[in-house]
Formats: sequence, structure tokens, C-alpha cells
Amino acid sequence: MKELNLIRLILSLHDYHTHLHTKRVQGYSKQLGKLLGLTSLELDVLDLASQFHDVGKIGVEKHLLTTSKIFDNDQIDEMKMHTYYSELIINHIDLDYSKQASIIARHHHERIDGNGYPDKLKADEIPILSRLITVTDMFDAIHSKRNYHTSKKSKFETLEIMERTVNTKLDEDLFNKFKTVIERRT
Ligand SMILES: [Fe+2]
Repeated sequence: MKELNLIRLILSLHDYHTHLHTKRVQGYSKQLGKLLGLTSLELDVLDLASQFHDVGKIGVEKHLLTTSKIFDNDQIDEMKMHTYYSELIINHIDLDYSKQASIIARHHHERIDGNGYPDKLKADEIPILSRLITVTDMFDAIHSKRNYHTSKKSKFETLEIMERTVNTKLDEDLFNKFKTVIERRT
């Protein structure tokens, strides 16, 4: 679809690392979604939301996406805006389920304990597909070297690090099922 390819192209030109990250998160999310037995509509929503969950970084200044310096509070706030921008962009895509996918993307940085953003939703208040993307997003962020993270971790080191955040950041059930996905890949 031309529209989706165009959005992918724009993101890749603005931030190539995020472009690659979103492709990997899309793949992990699809595998986890299938394991969960999601309906075909839910899988379509998940596919759109996962591949564009970070597309809103188009709206964040490029130097923030590539720096390894610690952010000040204003920069953290600007970075957090990417969830709104992702929602906005996805909502403009001409597909029947764009609205649903845009809401999923909006909430991919919420946390189970309610300390996430943008809406500080807790546990089951967070849509399940958003909670799913939080898991796959965190896995790829830790496992894959990105320029604002320091070192690449193995799959198992990554899962160990993630396990420490179960019930604060991550949904326990989704994390456990995701471990099955990763263990099957190795
Ligand atoms: Fe994000």
C-alpha cells in the first residue's frame, strides 16, 4: 500500500534506527499475537499499531533521537510527545481499523503500575494490544543496540532484565507468553 510505504520511507529518512526497530517489533508482535490466538481483526490492528508505534518520532527533533547524552526535563517531555504524534499519524491512515490502531500506539508507554505515559493508565485499563507492544518494544530496545542505549544484550540477558519489571512495567502473562516466543526462535 503506497500510503504505508510513504510513511515508512519518511520515518526511515528521519530516524533509520527507529525504522528498523519498528520492523522488528512488528515481527515479534505478530508472533506473540498469533500465540495468543487473536482474531484476524485484532491481528490487523496489532500489525498496524506495532509497525507505527514510534512513527511519531518524526515529530521529535532529530538530534534528540541520536544523542547519547542524558535528557533534561524539557527533552524528556518532547520525547514523550511521540506517543501523541504516533496516534495522530496512524489515525490519518486510510484503513477501517486505523482509529483502533492509533489508540493502541498512544498507550505503548503506559506501565502496569500506572506510572507510564501519556495517560497513567494502570493494569487492565491499558488496552491488551498496547501492553503486548510494551513487551515486544522493551525486548527490542534492550536486545538491539540503539544509540541511546549502551550495549547489546543476548536474548536471555534481555529476558532476565525484563523479568525484573514484571508487574511494574510489564504485564506478567504477556511477558511469560513472549518468553515462549523467544525460546522457540532459538
Ligand atoms: Fe515509543
